[in-house]
Amino acid sequence: MMDDHDPAKLREHFLQALHFRHACRAFQPGRRVAQEDIEYVLEAGRLSPSSLGLEHWRFVVVQDPACKEALREACMGQAQVGSASAVIVVLAREQELAPDSDYVARMLRREAPDAAGFAELLDFYRHFAQHNDLTAWSIAQCHIAATNIMTAAAVIGVDSCPIGGFSASAVLDALGITSRADVVALVVALGYREHEPPARQRLPLSELVEYR
Ligand SMILES: Cc1cc2nc3c(=O)[nH]c(=O)nc-3n(C[C@H](O)[C@H](O)[C@H](O)COP(=O)(O)O)c2cc1C
Repeated sequence: MMDDHDPAKLREHFLQALHFRHACRAFQPGRRVAQEDIEYVLEAGRLSPSSLGLEHWRFVVVQDPACKEALREACMGQAQVGSASAVIVVLAREQELAPDSDYVARMLRREAPDAAGFAELLDFYRHFAQHNDLTAWSIAQCHIAATNIMTAAAVIGVDSCPIGGFSASAVLDALGITSRADVVALVVALGYREHEPPARQRLPLSELVEYR
């Protein structure tokens, strides 16, 4: 019987998933990703870490062919968006990140339930908001969620492609979102590979890491 907690096996399985994942540029048309698998990867997104626990993301799952086609056009015509079984658009909250918003109050209260702690945290956030680009910060959190989505997909043998090449306003139009309360962080196409991927290109750790 396999020991599910054998550290060597867990390491191997995780690395296998990382090797399996690649930016898939052509999906098998017509091969569906099952709903339970979509929900599995979304759960991986939901459980992602976020700065101040603000859960900066929202996920829009596109499976409808006409909506997917509009999305493909909004993503510079990239074919993998069209052949994907499902496309997850990761939206970054923007309006709700204003320090005086109900959303920020709700989320920060979870981090600091007592009145004094909450007031201190909100004060810190007000200061942070004055000195940082909240939109870029929010998008960065969404990329963490998107990474977990793609890794979770790889764990269950589902291929993915992160798509940053899009017209943000065209993506929102394709989704029928008019409010402009959120910005588009990343588009993630999901499906099953049509071809084997090219050899992985990565710099060696020796060029990336310093120990001090
Ligand atoms: C934020 C981000 C945006 C990306 N945008 C696109 C894109 O628009 N179209 C595309 O084909 N690949 C896109 N990629 C995939 C990269 O090109 C790919 O990850 C990189 O070349 C390494 O290849 P690999 O993921 O297969 O190892 C994007 C990757 C990231 C992380």
